[in-house]
Amino acid sequence: MSFGIYVHVPFCAVRCDYCDFATFDDRAHLIDSYVDACVSDLRRYSGAVPAATSVFFGGGTPSLLLPEQVDAILAAARRTAGAEVTLEANPDSVDAESLAGYRAAGVTRLSLGVQSTRPAVLAALGRTHRPEHVRDAVVAARGAGIEEISVDLIYGASGETPHDWRSTLDDVLDLGVDHVSAYSLTVEKGTPLARRVAAGDVDAPDEDRQADAYVAADSVLSAAGMEWYEISSWARPGHECRQNRLYWEQGDYLGIGAAAHGHTAGRRWWNVRTPESYIDRVHLGESPEAGSETLDGAARAEEALTLSLRTRAGASVADRAEVVVAELVAAALLERVGERVVLTLRGRLLASDLTARLSLAGAASGGR
Ligand SMILES: C[S@@+](CC[C@H](N)C(=O)[O-])C[C@H]1O[C@@H](n2cnc3c(N)ncnc32)[C@H](O)[C@@H]1O
Ligand code: SF4
Repeated sequence: MSFGIYVHVPFCAVRCDYCDFATFDDRAHLIDSYVDACVSDLRRYSGAVPAATSVFFGGGTPSLLLPEQVDAILAAARRTAGAEVTLEANPDSVDAESLAGYRAAGVTRLSLGVQSTRPAVLAALGRTHRPEHVRDAVVAARGAGIEEISVDLIYGASGETPHDWRSTLDDVLDLGVDHVSAYSLTVEKGTPLARRVAAGDVDAPDEDRQADAYVAADSVLSAAGMEWYEISSWARPGHECRQNRLYWEQGDYLGIGAAAHGHTAGRRWWNVRTPESYIDRVHLGESPEAGSETLDGAARAEEALTLSLRTRAGASVADRAEVVVAELVAAALLERVGERVVLTLRGRLLASDLTARLSLAGAASGGR
């Protein structure tokens, strides 16, 4: 049985203009006590949850943690032999020494926030690293014995040309990575990017161009032997991220740290948002949970439809949606694979709309 642990690290050296994740660029002084709190929080569960088949340090910038700090957290996270342990890292916040330390602590997989390999695009995104940091980080990770390397990319930044995007894809393939996640730049409310777009200082991302970029990514990555396994992620066979699969399959996982989400025993729950409140709660022996919801059968089936339709395995849909399914198949937006329906390339570009249409037609069957 799969079981995951997500550890949120809400610290960054600099906040990127487009990002609205729970992260802070002025609280590095809290990192020590935050790590202690994560360890205590994890210990509350000892014996009460299965050994984890995957652990994911997400951020924020988990590579701001020292190897000893990652080690302390992992020591409190009971795992199966061969568990996948991913650490998200910014390319300019790792080096050979820290990567060797992470590997020794148990990290098996590095997820690098590359975003682009074009200097002008990195500048437009407000990223602090240079393209050479990416190559150095990949070489150092391999040298440290971390074989599984994934890169995150963003397409649609202001001024990014089709040629820039194609070069980024070629460059990451040249590095020989086995897993790529590519996200269309979204303008999140309340971010500096949203204010600049509202003021007319930068253009909002163009949806048609982003669709073209998605199609280009799928074509380049498939030609290189990677397959999409979720709308935004491609992997060589056998290199899919276990933790991500768990999310899309409504699996169980603990959320550790500020703003982390968990899903256990049919209940979705989330922690308090700031590192201070998380540290305080855990220190006082209280639960850091800020809220939770338990989905009833219908809501759970609806969620299963939304999540599984995003994956290459597709969704099983109830018979009563047959008319809509037939229309979407005829429009080449869905295809039937055995008893299931899977999004076509065009369908993937319209995933939210198609999920909404299927939901309205009562397609949520509760089956996975
Ligand atoms: C929250 S970050 C954590 C990883 C690491 N700090 C980094 O940025 O390199 C995870 C990924 O989310 C994506 N992301 C964050 N904000 C986004 C946005 N507004 N639009 C598209 N992708 C975004 C980026 O690709 C990023 O690598
Ligand atoms: S994108 Fe990554 S580095 Fe930038 S602010 Fe968000 S979490 Fe931090």
